[in-house]
Amino acid sequence: MSGEVSSLSALPGASSNGSAISLYARRTLGFEERLAQTVALLQDAVAQYGAGLLQSSSLGVEDMVVTDLIARHGLPIHVATLDTGRLHAQTLGLLPAIEARYGIQVQVYKPVADAVIRFVASRGENAMYESLALRKECCGLRKLEPLSRMLAGRTAWITGLRREQSSNRADVPFSEPDGQGRAKLNVLAAWSWADVWHYVATYDVPYNPLHDQFMPSIGCEPCTRAIAVGEDFRAGRWWWEDENAKECGLHKAHTNEELNEALKNGAAA
Ligand code: ADX
Ligand code: SF4
Repeated sequence: MSGEVSSLSALPGASSNGSAISLYARRTLGFEERLAQTVALLQDAVAQYGAGLLQSSSLGVEDMVVTDLIARHGLPIHVATLDTGRLHAQTLGLLPAIEARYGIQVQVYKPVADAVIRFVASRGENAMYESLALRKECCGLRKLEPLSRMLAGRTAWITGLRREQSSNRADVPFSEPDGQGRAKLNVLAAWSWADVWHYVATYDVPYNPLHDQFMPSIGCEPCTRAIAVGEDFRAGRWWWEDENAKECGLHKAHTNEELNEALKNGAAA
């Protein structure tokens, strides 16, 4: 992986007129320091974890910033994503864009086809709206099981979690144990939304055009919608559920029993 970043422009639909960039990008006090701190955290992580280190990218804008930093600073960090099978076409469009721009091939982890087929056959395509248990089962099959394969053999993973994203995330540290013996490195923990877009504008980072359609936080298509003025950052995720339920489980420490339960349910569905 080289430190060179070509100057291919952002994805179609991600123009800077009337876009998320024009709405949110702002250079605020301390941006340069936060940026330098993030670069230092990434460099330290390479020194400490070497090939055991991985970026877990949702292909959302925070993760695109991290991938840009990895490429720009020539850091030998693999980038991987979980393709749940229910992502927007615009999200998947970032995979070739990342390769064209940075020469990075994102490693894609998918759910076990049989488990998904059985779940859909018995519960339907849109079981997630029926109950929290079914929604979690779907996340278990489509995200948690592939996550466990993605992280197998790794010692640390990098996320784009930020404290500002929700009250549940207000205390996100730069580094924390993931509950399964690895370190989880939240290198953008202190960044604001304005910082993220200032970086995107400054370095012409490709991003999901859905961010221009009032979707600040993007997950699977059936579980993501645009937010209205004044709504919280994550209000468009699992909008029919209680505020406290709004996590898919990627960022909770899982016991093996919990994971096995999710898989067993999917297999039996
Ligand atoms: S989620 O838990 O609600 O889905 P969110 O979309 O805010 O999480 O993303 C937070 C971080 O979780 C991302 O910055 C990324 O590190 C990781 N993440 C979320 N979704 C994925 C995915 N599909 N593939 C890989 N990593 C992901
Ligand atoms: Fe299924 Fe929605 Fe979870 Fe995606 S976010 S895995 S579609 S329940």
